[in-house]
Amino acid sequence: MSKKIGILTGGGDCPGLNAVIRGVVKSAIIRHGWEVIGIEDGFDGLLDLSKCRLLTLESVRGILPRGGTILGTTNRGNPFSFPVDQAGKTVLVDLSDKVVENIRALGLDALIVVGGEGSLKIALELVKKGVSIVGIPKTIDNDLCGTDVTFGYNTALETATDALDKLHTTAESHHRVMILEVMGRYAGWIALESGIAGGADVILIPEIPFDFARVCTAIHRRSDRGSRFSVLVVAEGAFPAGGDRVVAKEADEINIIERLGGIGQYVAKQIAQCLEMDVRVTVLGHLQRGGSPTTFDRALGSRFGTKAVAMVAAAEFGRMACLRGRKIETVTLEGATCDLNLVDPEGETVRTAEDIGIMLGR
Ligand code: F6P
Repeated sequence: MSKKIGILTGGGDCPGLNAVIRGVVKSAIIRHGWEVIGIEDGFDGLLDLSKCRLLTLESVRGILPRGGTILGTTNRGNPFSFPVDQAGKTVLVDLSDKVVENIRALGLDALIVVGGEGSLKIALELVKKGVSIVGIPKTIDNDLCGTDVTFGYNTALETATDALDKLHTTAESHHRVMILEVMGRYAGWIALESGIAGGADVILIPEIPFDFARVCTAIHRRSDRGSRFSVLVVAEGAFPAGGDRVVAKEADEINIIERLGGIGQYVAKQIAQCLEMDVRVTVLGHLQRGGSPTTFDRALGSRFGTKAVAMVAAAEFGRMACLRGRKIETVTLEGATCDLNLVDPEGETVRTAEDIGIMLGR
């Protein structure tokens, strides 16, 4: 039976989103002969029908290697708590009924939501209002439960590892301590795995509060052994034992998520006091969210996209496509969003790092 499905991309962008969109559009059209409506700017697009357009095979031609999302996104748009100007004052209003009404007006049989924890939680609330939704796990942070890995993470890792390779040579030439601050929000995956792959000497992650004195001792030991340079990777969410995270912008009513940033400079300032070496900081920032997706993310994004279409065909709603081992499977949206997927401080990856002499700040 012919269907009309919608797709939106929500939250921070990441490499591989276009591969997902292409996978959805191509399999919906080629395998099923369905119609696909692209919704611009995340859930915001469902509040404004002029932001909804037909996606054809032509619309997705050539987008596979492109970073970003051809549909646009926003990491603020929550229709359950939408900022509206009322008499010169911004107030938060629940516009979710309008979203449901517009989904009906568009004639959508199902909606595919490509997003991280925030967007998938909104999706779950819409499912409770009767919308037929399938989720796809996206984020460079790799912090979503229910899937072994999210798409976008692998490309971010490549970017961080490449930065570490580059910092190594200049650190060695100048006998310096180089600190690389990476993203990841409250999860240390990017720092940990890029640190292992990029040969970092110290990795600081949110899951293991660190001790400044121990970090300094590790750097001194390296100097004593003749390595007059050190490379540190610091996750933006890392914090010292007994201390706080460094926040670039506090959360407020409108921006409900605090923006992390600045821990690299903070660590530099503290360790400079106990070292006789130059310390420099690089904040990798949004470079981690851009660029052409890796082969892994293109393939994973395509697999997630086609799986989501198959889930719609099988009426498997309220669930998310996920990777388990080498297989694409499905998990409930509740299971995917009830917790964050954080690094296990006693797990195998941390152990690998410590076994090869990387200092984790403890
Ligand atoms: O969740 C992805 C992410 O890039 C985080 O790693 C980071 O903390 C945050 O988004 C940055 O968000 P923004 O794009 O609002 O600066």
